[in-house]
Amino acid sequence: MGLYEEHVLPRMIDVLCNLKVATPQRQRVCSGLAGEVVEIGFGSGLNVPFYPAAVTRVAAVEPADTGWKLARKRLEATSVPVQRAGLDGASLPFPDDSFDAALSTWTMCTIPDVEAALRELRRVLKPGGTLHFVEHGLAPDERVQTWQHRLEPVQKRLFGGCHLTRPVADLIARAGFEITELDVFYEQRSPKVVGANSLGVAASP
Ligand SMILES: C[S@@+](CC[C@H](N)C(=O)[O-])C[C@H]1O[C@@H](n2cnc3c(N)ncnc32)[C@H](O)[C@@H]1O
Repeated sequence: MGLYEEHVLPRMIDVLCNLKVATPQRQRVCSGLAGEVVEIGFGSGLNVPFYPAAVTRVAAVEPADTGWKLARKRLEATSVPVQRAGLDGASLPFPDDSFDAALSTWTMCTIPDVEAALRELRRVLKPGGTLHFVEHGLAPDERVQTWQHRLEPVQKRLFGGCHLTRPVADLIARAGFEITELDVFYEQRSPKVVGANSLGVAASP
């Protein structure tokens, strides 16, 4: 990881992902989480205030040390035990069938091998365990898609490999999850190219 990815980007993410517009989405996506949870792309812990009391433990997976450091105050303010337990969503250091639920917020755009990360989540979730997700990705409208394809190379360079055109729900379904809730919408006050969000829950059979 270079200096930009390790020191600058996590601070930018901490600010950009902490905009008020994301709050209702974090509340919605965290609602219903319970038991032992793995969160991939933990970042600076912006979901921590939204973990329900029914969550007994969170294993946080995050490559950037700076993100983890920026999470300190949020971690001090929660009663939910959170451990930094891994560095790469595509290679999870946990046994099979070890979690009740998984959480991913605006992270599947960035993990280089997102298919491997979804396979890993299937592996570590107990049968019937749920993946809660809110992700930006390929827009429903062709005109927006065209701009997403044009701008994706710039986005990737500026934001640590962040893709604009990943078909979120398709990727999750192709990994073998059964999507039980899905809401696709453009985030208010965001450019559509980065604001085409998919929020939902998928069960691991
Ligand atoms: C746009 S940020 C979202 C952070 C956080 N989930 C949030 O909602 O604020 C994407 C995060 O994915 C992390 N990330 C990048 N590659 C990863 C990987 N291979 N495995 C897990 N997380 C990764 C980045 O370091 C970053 O913290």
